[in-house]
Amino acid sequence: MSMWGGRFDAAPNALVAKMGESISYDRRLYKHDIRGSKAHAQMLARQKIIPESDAQAIVSGLDQIQNEIESSEFEWSEALEDVHMNIEDRLTKLIGPSGARLHAGRSRNDQVATDFRLYLRDEVDVLRAYVVDVQRALVKLAVQHTKTVLPGFTHLQHAQPIVLAHYLLAYTEMFQRDVLRLDDWRKRMNYLPLGSSALAGSTLPLDRNWVAEKLGFDGLCENSLDAVSDRDFAIELVSVCSMLMMHLSRISEDIIFWMSQEAGWVELGDDFCTGSSLMPQKKNPDMCELTRGKTARVYGNLTTLLTIMKGIPLAYNRDMQEDKEPVFDALDTVKLVLSVYAPMIQSMKVNKDRMYDAASDPALMATDLAEWLVKQGMPFRDSHHRVGKLVGYSRKIGVALDNLTLEQMQSVIPEANEECLELWKPERSVALRDLPGGTAPAQALHQLKTKWAHLLEE
Ligand code: ARG
Repeated sequence: MSMWGGRFDAAPNALVAKMGESISYDRRLYKHDIRGSKAHAQMLARQKIIPESDAQAIVSGLDQIQNEIESSEFEWSEALEDVHMNIEDRLTKLIGPSGARLHAGRSRNDQVATDFRLYLRDEVDVLRAYVVDVQRALVKLAVQHTKTVLPGFTHLQHAQPIVLAHYLLAYTEMFQRDVLRLDDWRKRMNYLPLGSSALAGSTLPLDRNWVAEKLGFDGLCENSLDAVSDRDFAIELVSVCSMLMMHLSRISEDIIFWMSQEAGWVELGDDFCTGSSLMPQKKNPDMCELTRGKTARVYGNLTTLLTIMKGIPLAYNRDMQEDKEPVFDALDTVKLVLSVYAPMIQSMKVNKDRMYDAASDPALMATDLAEWLVKQGMPFRDSHHRVGKLVGYSRKIGVALDNLTLEQMQSVIPEANEECLELWKPERSVALRDLPGGTAPAQALHQLKTKWAHLLEE
């Protein structure tokens, strides 16, 4: 007979157990389920809802169950549907009638909402540390490349030179916002659902505040219907994960291109690449490609969650059991990718010469001449037009911008002088962009010394 079998005459069809079970995946909530149950039992005893001796028996029984699970002795049963009933059933078998007192004032609805939050809170602590590991790898590489010049792109066309540190710190900034989003998520989700019972609260004198404090929550979910029905916290987390994956996917795209034969600017370590079963010469950046691919998977999980929730009436509906796999999959995926990413970045060798050569096309410094003219008093629209003409002229006569004589330059831009002949080196170009947020080496150094120094110390 199942735990809810009192009003039934027949046992469930075997297919009901097969379709209804979540134990195959929600067993990973066991530790948090036990933690929540222990707090609940202790509170029940404090409130004199159950005898103290029963609470003690429950707590030690739950400890034993945790040992059994962790030593793989525990027998999970599909017929018992989920992690909550598997553990409660075992508890009653272990300690007898005291176990039957545990579920007073509680429903699986507020129980699962509590377990899920506790679990995700711990997962996010790990995830957050992994993001910081990636930031650390980026910053450590950036320190070595504050003067390494490469072309910056817009529209995948060479635009202006930048330093590699500036590029790497751009992603460090993006990952920092991801970290802050995780911190912010925690502030919003860290409220206790337990005590909401099935949907309406309880007639028993539960002390919810005591449980909240015991379990490290900042407060209570203040509406029982909301507490058991909301999965915003899961959706928001997968949304933060999606954004994080978007960042990882974009940097992957650049690394893939940088490692192409066309660019040849970087090479990832052999230990982070794969070969071809057919072409002996190949060394492929598959982990970057998989990062791009797995991003789709996390977005898919976000869409799944939003779609599960969009049409269900208050309060709990069984549809909500489908919330766990997408969240687990998203977290597993992001953690896996992040754990590969930090050492993969560390393994990256930079070919400074090839980067420099690519950034040395004087056309990348055309803007610098236009801005030099602005400094002489020319309106920017005029200087832009004049320099455009000069680019056209240099192409027509087949002489690169940095090889034009002053006379040739003045034939298009009469205001040009000797200084204009010195504008064509990429290292000069980046050094000139020495304002907050600019790509000058001095700016990158400043950022590394102030904003990111803590990552370099560890
Ligand atoms: N396994 C269920 C879930 O994850 C637990 C809650 C079940 N509640 C219920 N009323 N059937 O959603």
